[in-house]
Order: sequence, then structure tokens, then C-alpha cells
Amino acid sequence: MKPHLIILGAPGSGKGTQASRLAGKGYRHISTGDLLRSEIAKNTELGQKVSGILSRGDLVDDNTVMALLKANCDINMVSYIFDGFPRNVVQAEMLDTQLLQGCNSIAVYYKLEPGVLIDRIVNRRTCAKCGEIYNLNTKPPMKSNVCDKCGSINELKQRKDDTQEVVSNRLKIFADTVNPMLLFYKAKGALVEIDASKPEDEVFDNLEKVIC
Ligand code: AP5
Repeated sequence: MKPHLIILGAPGSGKGTQASRLAGKGYRHISTGDLLRSEIAKNTELGQKVSGILSRGDLVDDNTVMALLKANCDINMVSYIFDGFPRNVVQAEMLDTQLLQGCNSIAVYYKLEPGVLIDRIVNRRTCAKCGEIYNLNTKPPMKSNVCDKCGSINELKQRKDDTQEVVSNRLKIFADTVNPMLLFYKAKGALVEIDASKPEDEVFDNLEKVIC
């Protein structure tokens, strides 16, 4: 089995875009943000608990997200791409001890100057039907408001936490938590950095080189 991939990067650095391109090539993509949004959409007890937290751009508590992740993956069946988990050192340790438990893994850090992130995020649109990610500036759909992938019409939506104010909070939290996490993976000799400022195809080529 290929090593599990742990994708680290700021909001808007392209984690979801790259992970969904890689999904299917022997990997399963799991995004804790998507799992939490799905709970909110289904109005479950958990969804009600976390809805306000996501709207503010704060982090959900570590134990809750870990439990959700564990309930949704079986790491002995397939290699996973972890997108959005871990967000801090505590979660990195939990991932190691409670889930990976010695399985091979690589942490890939999508490095990007903060300046471009807000612009990327406020221009993101996501297909509510199939999850395909677009950008009004860099990757618009071929036909306005029609998803290239599944053909849905008027389903390209902006995420509620993609407003300038909430994004600023998300970026601040990321800046406050990222370095100890990078040191954690560096110390294990499991950290690779990729320049995420390059065009999407180039970033993907570099990701494929890392995992070959
Ligand atoms: P989550 O859904 O994980 O959001 P995020 O980490 O903030 O990351 P994003 O999804 O915003 O960005 P991305 O890096 O995936 O970028 P994308 O590929 O879409 O988390 C949301 C919330 O859930 C959190 O705030 C928190 O509340 C909660 N949560 C989730 N996990 C948690 C956890 N573990 N613990 C606690 N709470 C948790 O790309 C962005 C845009 O850029 C797109 O428009 C795309 O087209 C464009 N783009 C991508 N690549 C390029 C490129 N190379 N060049 C130009 N444009 C590009």
C-alpha cells in the first residue's frame, strides 16, 4: 500500500484541489472540513454543535474532529489523503497514535505567501452537487454557472466561511498553529514542502513526483 498522505497548508493553499485530483489514483480523499459541512447540512446533533464554530472560522475541538475522522476511515483498506487534519500538534499526535499507529505516511506542506490567499478564497466557488472546486479568476467554469464536471446548473456556491472577515480569522489561526506542526513532521523525517504559488498543474506534477 502507498504511504498515507497528510496535506498541510493554509486555507486557500489548494489542499482540496490537489487532493481531489489525486483521489482515485490509489488514494481516498478525506477532508475534515467536508465531513463537518456534511453534518451541518444534515442538521445532525454534531452539525448543530459545530455550525457556529465554522461560521466564525474557529477550530472545532480536537477530540470531536478526531472521533469524526476515525468514524469515517479504515486506514487498513486504502491509502488516505488527509486534507484539513491535523490543524495543530495535538491533532498530529492523535493522528499518529490513534489512527496511523505506525503506518507509513508523508506530510506534504503546501507553502504559499499569505498575500494571495484571501483573493483565492473569496473567488472560490464549489459545486454543491459534486464538490468540484472553481475560481472565478483562475479557474472559472467553461459556461457561466454550469459545473464542467457534473453539468449541474446554478449550483456553484460560495462557502459561508469564505467572507473576508472570516477568512482573516482562519488565516490567523493557521499562522498561530502551523510552525509547531511542521517541526513535528520534520523531526520524524516525514515532511516535504511544495511551492503552492505555482499554477495548479505544476503543483500537481510536483505532488506526483513526491509520492512516486
Ligand atoms: P476546511 O474545509 O479544511 O478549510 P481550510 O483548511 O480553511 O481550507 P480551504 O478548503 O479553505 O482551502 P484549500 O487549501 O482546500 O484550497 P482549495 O483547493 O479549495 O475547514 C473549514 C473549517 O472546518 C475550519 O475553519 C474549521 O472550522 C473546521 N475544521 C476543519 N478541519 C478541522 C480540524 N482538523 N480541526 C478543527 N476544525 C476543523 O483552493 C482555494 C481556491 O484557490 C480555489 O478557488 C481554487 O480553484 C484556487 N486554487 C487552488 N490551487 C490554485 C493554484 N495553484 N493557483 C491558483 N488558484 C488555485
